[in-house]
Amino acid sequence: MMRLVVLISGRGSNLAALLSAAAAGTLPARVVGVLANCADAPGLETASAAGVPTRALDHRLFADREAFDTALAEAIDGFAPDLVVLAGFMRILGDRFVRRYAGRLINIHPSLLPAFPGLHTHRRALAEGVRVHGCTVHFVTPELDHGPIIVQAAVPVLDTDDEAALAARVLAQEHRIYPLAIRWFADGRLRLCDGRVLLASVQSDGGVLIAPQLVAV
Ligand code: GRF
Repeated sequence: MMRLVVLISGRGSNLAALLSAAAAGTLPARVVGVLANCADAPGLETASAAGVPTRALDHRLFADREAFDTALAEAIDGFAPDLVVLAGFMRILGDRFVRRYAGRLINIHPSLLPAFPGLHTHRRALAEGVRVHGCTVHFVTPELDHGPIIVQAAVPVLDTDDEAALAARVLAQEHRIYPLAIRWFADGRLRLCDGRVLLASVQSDGGVLIAPQLVAV
């Protein structure tokens, strides 16, 4: 069974979606550890309630980013994960950390990247008047909210939307596509090769097609 370590900073609804998919048997993976950069992240309780070991590493107690990243990597490696999953982890990770986990570090971002990297994506989408918004799962590269795209889900932006309504519509899709992407990885169908996403899909004739990228949903 593939081993996942999930990094969070807050509420942990994406973590909860992964835990339920694993419990339901629709995700052939086990969350073996949850790490947070703040001890009061509500998602830590979700993890504990599911019997998953947790650790909080307060980034403010470290001299610099490098020192925090090193301690974080040690904590992660203690769980021996196959895949490291960023799920609302609000710290920028340094180049050395990102390279250490190249090809096995993924993130979910609440916009259709490359539009709206960074914070307040729903507010900015409304301010720009875009008609379509959504979320993206991608492999992590040193550049913030950037990296080879694995899967995206799009939602309409309605005239009646406020930030909360739009965020809720996007979040429902996040909870769908994150388990989906991780399932592909667990099934050995998804990998990063020379900076590109390779996703193998089984054809009706039983052959295997290697597509550079699949945008599902
Ligand atoms: C999600 O919108 C995710 O895309 C972003 O941070 C939020 C985390 O939400 N990176 P949750 O903690 O998973 O509920």
